[in-house]
Formats: sequence, C-alpha cells, structure tokens
Amino acid sequence: MDPVRNPYAPGAGQRPPELAGRGRELDVFDVVLERIARGRPERSLMLTGLRGVGKTVLLNTLRSQAINHLWGTGKIEARPDQSLRRPVAAALHMAVRELAPRHRAPDRIDAFLGVLKAFAQRAAPAGRGGAAPKMRDRWQPGIDVPASSGRADSGDIEIDLVELLTDAAAVATDVGTGIAIFIDEMQDLGAEDVSALCAACHELSQLGAPLIVVGAGLPHLPAVLSAAKSYSERLFRYQRIDRLDRIAADQALCAPAEREEVEYEQKALDLLYEKSGGYPYFVQAYGKATWDHAPRSPITAADVRVAAPEAEAELAVGFFGSRFERATPAEREYMRAMATLALVDGEDSGRDDMDAAVPTAEIARALGRKPASLSPARDALIKKGLIYSGERGTVAFTVPHFGRYLRTQPA
Ligand SMILES: Nc1ncnc2c1ncn2[C@@H]1O[C@H](COP(=O)(O)OP(=O)(O)OP(=O)(O)O)[C@@H](O)[C@H]1O
Ligand SMILES: [Mg+2]
Repeated sequence: MDPVRNPYAPGAGQRPPELAGRGRELDVFDVVLERIARGRPERSLMLTGLRGVGKTVLLNTLRSQAINHLWGTGKIEARPDQSLRRPVAAALHMAVRELAPRHRAPDRIDAFLGVLKAFAQRAAPAGRGGAAPKMRDRWQPGIDVPASSGRADSGDIEIDLVELLTDAAAVATDVGTGIAIFIDEMQDLGAEDVSALCAACHELSQLGAPLIVVGAGLPHLPAVLSAAKSYSERLFRYQRIDRLDRIAADQALCAPAEREEVEYEQKALDLLYEKSGGYPYFVQAYGKATWDHAPRSPITAADVRVAAPEAEAELAVGFFGSRFERATPAEREYMRAMATLALVDGEDSGRDDMDAAVPTAEIARALGRKPASLSPARDALIKKGLIYSGERGTVAFTVPHFGRYLRTQPA
C-alpha cells in the first residue's frame, strides 16, 4: 500500500501514531498534577523499563500533559560522565521562562534567574587536566541579569540543587502552578548527582513545594537511586513500563490504519503479536514493513509473512546492531555466553521468555573463567546500557530479544 501514507513510526523517541496501553500512567499523572496544584503531598515519578518499550515517548507525553495544566517544564537527557549542573540549569531556565509572563512581579523572576546563573557558573571548568572546554560545555545561559551570590553557588551540588529547586518552586507557587523536570536515561547520572537529586526531592516533598521530577530509565534505575539514598524507595513512585498486552498492541496497529481506511484480518494480528511480543518498537517495525508489502486492505497473515524478513533486517541494523557495535570483543563474548545460557534456562522452564536473567557465576563457568576476571566486561556493559543487574548475582539484557539476535550473529 502507499508508503507515503504509512502511519507507523519505528525509531528511538518517535511519537507513535497511537499511544496504546498507557492510559493508567496518563491518569496517574493527571492526579499527581492536580494534587500538587492543590498543595497535597505527592511523590516524584520514575518510569522504568527495557529498551524500546516507550519510556521516552511516554515522558514526552507526560510533559505535554503538564504543559496543558499550565505548568512550567524542562527536559534533560542524562549522559554518562556529564555533570547534571548545566543541563538542570537549562531545563529550569526553560520552565521558569514559561511561567514568567504570568508572574506579577518581574523582579522575583530576575532574582531567581540571578541564582540560576550563579548555580550554572559554579560548574567545574570542563575538560579535565587543563584541556580546553569542549564547545558543548561552554553553555551560554542567555540570562541577562547578573549572577547573584550566596545561594545555590557553594559548589556542593547537593546543597546547591536543594536551594535552586526550592527557589524555582517558589516562583511556581507565586503563579499558582507547578514545575516538572523530566529526566530521560536517568540511570546514567553520576552518583553525586543522583544523591543530590534525591536530597532535593526529599526536601521539596517535605516543604510541599510544587516541583516534581519525572525520571525514565532502565530497569535498574531503582537500584541506582537506592544506592545513593536509602530513603529513595519511599521517595519515588515507580512505574514499570512494559510491553503492550494483546489488546493494546492490536490498538497500536489498528487505530492508525483505520484512519487510513485500512483493516487487518484477525490472523494477521495474531502473527504480528507473535512476532513483536508486544514490544512497542517491534510493533511499529513489523507494522511498517507489513503496510509497505501488503497490496491492499485487509492486511493478511500472508502479507505479514512476506514482510517479516524486511522488518527483521531493519531491526538488526537499527535496533540491535547499533547497540552491538558499541561492545568490545570481550564484551561481545560475554553477551554471547549470556544469550546461550538464557536460551537454556528458557527451555528448561518451558517459558518463551528469551530475556531471562542469567547468574553471573554461570557465565563465568561457561567461559571457563574466574568470575572476578569478568567484572570489567560486565561493568562496562552495564555502563553502556546493554545489560543490567536487577537482582544481585544475575544479569539480563536491557534490549528485548537481544539474546535471539546474538544467536543469529556469526561469532
Ligand atoms: N504506547 C505505545 N504504543 C505504540 N507504540 C509505541 C508506544 N510507546 C512507544 N512506541 C513506539 O516504540 C518505539 C520506542 O519508543 P521509545 O523510544 O520511547 O522507547 P524507549 O523506552 O525510550 O527506548 P530506549 O530505552 O531505547 O530509549 C517508538 O517507535 C515509538 O513510536
Ligand atoms: Mg528512550
């Protein structure tokens, strides 16, 4: 069918034509926004899940929801080895700029911007060892009030962040709304920054201040947060973002097609669900290839069968391959051992779950190595976001169906 009218959108952070199966999360967030606006206590939200389940897309949707409630918003994507200070300053700058036109005392806004500037400028000079700062580190805040002093500029990120966020929340209180800061890939924040953020959220919730953080990250994000502050388990509300159930996956495919007056035969939907496992990225990828191959409506199971190899080839490059290439030979060997063991486990238990956690001791045994000698590979893979350790002594892939992909790759 006409590829120009193809509605599906496989791709990182690509807005899907239909955000299926996330009604509960959207409702919860509506309640959170309303409660905070009325001065009720609420916890910051943390969305966790595997790669490609739709965390970024959901985070962006929640941001739109906050904007619709006239909140100030800003968004950050955390990166390993990057300090939180400047990104958080930029995000808050944006949030407060959205509120400023509704504020009746411009000097209060200027006072806040002075604090914000001081906070941002307190960043350690970028480029360790005296190297010239890189272009992206030379942040120009574009704030034309002078930096103030004595607040949020101690150089201790924990103290400074608490003060800065408290002041930002006060601006929101003045205009009778709130501020939401969205942090994607939150597991990549450095330990000090995570600690500081937890402390700030803790303080804000005690004050009943209208500022929340909405984070998204891999399944081990809760472990990262509780390693920083033991109280973080009670501080945040965790929401596991998972694959779509059958009804939601069908809706993700059928609703956009219907708008183009295209239908699916039931058998086509059966096969599509079998192939995608309900993982949103895969739903989009198989949907897209199937649309392009199907000669006419209704789309049949035979169309899906013809199109599947193309979807798989695209996933192999865009979804799996791009990640696999980030691994060194030793890390690839580690992951291959994981993939083989996950398969054995899955067969034993009769499950079709290829994404099972694998004990690290078994990986060492399979590779004929001492467990300690594999720690560097494991830690590097965790840092690269390819695997995670949900339970002590086990690892699992962050990428759904990664084991199956690896088993098809030549060694
Ligand atoms: N609820 C949904 N319904 C249908 N499609 C969805 C849904 N959520 C996400 N998608 C699609 O899934 C794909 C992946 O979404 P997204 O990039 O948000 O995932 P992610 O969890 O952030 O992945 P990563 O961990 O790699 O960053 C996109 O193509 C998006 O359009
Ligand atoms: Mg994402």
